Amino acid sequence: MIYQPFTGKTAIVTGSANGIGFAIAQHLVAEGAKVVINDIDPAAAAAAVTKLNAGSEVHSYAFPGDAGDPEFIKRMVDFAANITNSRLEMVVANAGLTEFGDFFDFTPESFTKVVNLNLRGTFFLAQAAAKVMKAQGSGGNIVLIGSNVGERAYMNLAAYGMSKAGISMLAKQLTLPLGPLGISVNCVAPGATLTERTQKEEPDYAGTWAKLNPNNRVGQPEDVAATVAFMLSPASRHITGQTLLVDGGWTSYGPSPFFLREIAEDRPVTNGQNNTTAKAAEAIKLKQMVS
Ligand SMILES: NC(=O)c1ccc[n+]([C@@H]2O[C@H](COP(=O)([O-])OP(=O)(O)OC[C@H]3O[C@@H](n4cnc5c(N)ncnc54)[C@H](O)[C@@H]3O)[C@@H](O)[C@H]2O)c1
Repeated sequence: MIYQPFTGKTAIVTGSANGIGFAIAQHLVAEGAKVVINDIDPAAAAAAVTKLNAGSEVHSYAFPGDAGDPEFIKRMVDFAANITNSRLEMVVANAGLTEFGDFFDFTPESFTKVVNLNLRGTFFLAQAAAKVMKAQGSGGNIVLIGSNVGERAYMNLAAYGMSKAGISMLAKQLTLPLGPLGISVNCVAPGATLTERTQKEEPDYAGTWAKLNPNNRVGQPEDVAATVAFMLSPASRHITGQTLLVDGGWTSYGPSPFFLREIAEDRPVTNGQNNTTAKAAEAIKLKQMVS
């Protein structure tokens, strides 16, 4: 018998036509949920729903639109709350935007794009969903999608990193108004994960990150989906306000102190790369990490 903890429950997953969001939707459908597939791209949302509904039963519903727009969010939450024979008890604020850019040249337009979706969208989705859950009186689960870049500085991602750190703090803040209502709020923070987007950004994305992650592998969307499903399930009922990193250990380490000393003293790297100065080695490493 398949484990189906989500039967009779509806979930909203924003930005779920592709990538991590789609994997989350797929996992929740497999475990019994009805899922509202939101995406800014209506054709992609429709295609995702077609895949998820293969067979006789309707498991998912497309609700395309901008997950950063509070008025749209209200309409989407209202739609989800009115799906028959199911209750809106799960929300995943997954849609998020990454804008790379040098700090000195970063424009107000790029800043607004990042903050509108990552922070405003996440905040008002949690608010609208929590109102429904409060009215229903049966509690609920909210998962916010953060990032490893919300925990560690990363070249050319100042606005994005700031927004993801804000999301992590939002999970803590919301324990106070929502805990007494039986609503838990957690942040699941992926590390480098192989999706259609990241694959396009860097052809050897998987190879590069398998080298950088202590566990020698790149993250797969299903790694994040399984963690989100745990956070939404009754098994995590005493966990709230937490950020759980799904990053293969990347945020657990820092550069070796010996390596840093070599850089500070601008001495050649001694570990078999004698022809490379420490600064050059650091530059190569940073380049790998941001490409
Ligand atoms: N992929 C990674 O390596 C990684 C790492 C850390 C954190 N994350 C976070 O995980 C989440 C999902 O990442 P991903 O790489 O799967 O995303 P992605 O960039 O592939 O986008 C997923 C979907 O979101 C949709 N989308 C874009 N703007 C939207 C909007 N305004 N409203 C609704 N939908 C919108 C896109 O059309 C796309 O189908 C994001 O919050 C991202 O910041 C991803």
